[in-house]
Amino acid sequence: MLSVADNELMTRVGPGTPVGELMRQYWIPALMSIELPGPDSDPVRVRLLCEDLIAFRDTDGNIGLVDNYCPHRRASLFFGRNEECGLRCVYHGWKFDVNGDCVDMPSEPAESNFKDKVKIKAYACQERNGIIWTYMGTRTELPPLPDIEPNMLDEDAEQSVWTAMRDCNWVQALEGDIDTSHLGFLHLGSLDAENMTPGSFDYFTVRERSPLGFDVEETDYGTSYGAWRTTDGDEIYWRIAHFLFPFYTMIPTSILGVQVLVRAWVPIDDTHTMFWNICGANPFRGGIGTGKKGQQAGGAATDVDYVPNTSDFLGRWRLEANVENDYKIDREAQKTNKIYTGITGIHLQDQVITESMGTITDRVREHLGASDSMVIKTRRSIINAARSLQEGVTHPTVDHPELYRERSGGTLLPKGQGWFEGTAELRKAFVDHPELVGSDKGLK
Ligand code: FES
Ligand SMILES: [Fe+2]
Repeated sequence: MLSVADNELMTRVGPGTPVGELMRQYWIPALMSIELPGPDSDPVRVRLLCEDLIAFRDTDGNIGLVDNYCPHRRASLFFGRNEECGLRCVYHGWKFDVNGDCVDMPSEPAESNFKDKVKIKAYACQERNGIIWTYMGTRTELPPLPDIEPNMLDEDAEQSVWTAMRDCNWVQALEGDIDTSHLGFLHLGSLDAENMTPGSFDYFTVRERSPLGFDVEETDYGTSYGAWRTTDGDEIYWRIAHFLFPFYTMIPTSILGVQVLVRAWVPIDDTHTMFWNICGANPFRGGIGTGKKGQQAGGAATDVDYVPNTSDFLGRWRLEANVENDYKIDREAQKTNKIYTGITGIHLQDQVITESMGTITDRVREHLGASDSMVIKTRRSIINAARSLQEGVTHPTVDHPELYRERSGGTLLPKGQGWFEGTAELRKAFVDHPELVGSDKGLK
């Protein structure tokens, strides 16, 4: 059970809060590059870590992320003119460049040097493979971007990025990814083992809906779990997943050694989270719910429909199925067990459940069991890192981008072999494993 104070500590992300300051140590995915499609394109409202900001791409293609409020008389720069390498406030014409410098102040006398004394808050931005990253911390020498494998592939490599807004606290949203025992129920509850391909990972999962054993490791990058089930042979089927500071997950939807997938749960404010799915080439693209004969897991993981983005701070990447329409639950499909939840799509199923807990769940009233040990240890490590930072101790992931060079997935190991040591090679990012592609060792 988590105390009220710890729940508060973990969920609040505004400036000056322990976890908010922890987050500000890191580069953060802020927008998709396509949201600022070209030089001088329209400014975009972006909320991040409880701060209201305006993003723009200047005439040279550089990205600015500045305070919503003009430092003169606090008009919103959303209404500004994006022109000639800067964003000009339309109230009195003050103009700011991507660094936050005031480059024009036509409302003051020409001889005034007031312009040189005024700055707008501006956060550094970098673009990498379709993602605009920002750094909201205080260092003048910026830390490196994390070595997120699917965000670092060659431009011609297969890769995809998509995002979705979630109406709940970031930890709550993230915890859905490290809660392994829900897979056999929430997502695969309508499947039965007799109709599935023997030897497939989903077959093992459905046959033993809860893992038989579960082990959590604390690591330099965060936490990892291995959850195991039996197979028909001498090997053990392991599902291996990670939490990496401050808000990343790697989940085991596919095969360890082949899957290149990182997910981020970026706090927009205390009650909203932007989910990022950053995926590299994956020959086993179907992920969860494959390996069965003619059965439905209720839709693929990426099966989501959006409403058009609005210009609201909370209007980006919203799903068509949402709390207003009960996520389009199909009670008939639920009743007939065509789809266990009646909710279409794995992403949406997770979204429904984590949002249904309320925007900040009352963790004091939870009853956590042995199968929740990854959630428990991950919470503890976040709280510890936030407290350590208050004492001046920086988490190693801030300055060691190589700690993110990990992979997750499912694999078979000989009985008796420790999963963490036994998967050390397969967990390494940026390593090809052609021997696993098309393998018939039960890796279907
Ligand atoms: S409020 Fe922006 S220039 Fe006056
Ligand atoms: Fe899930």
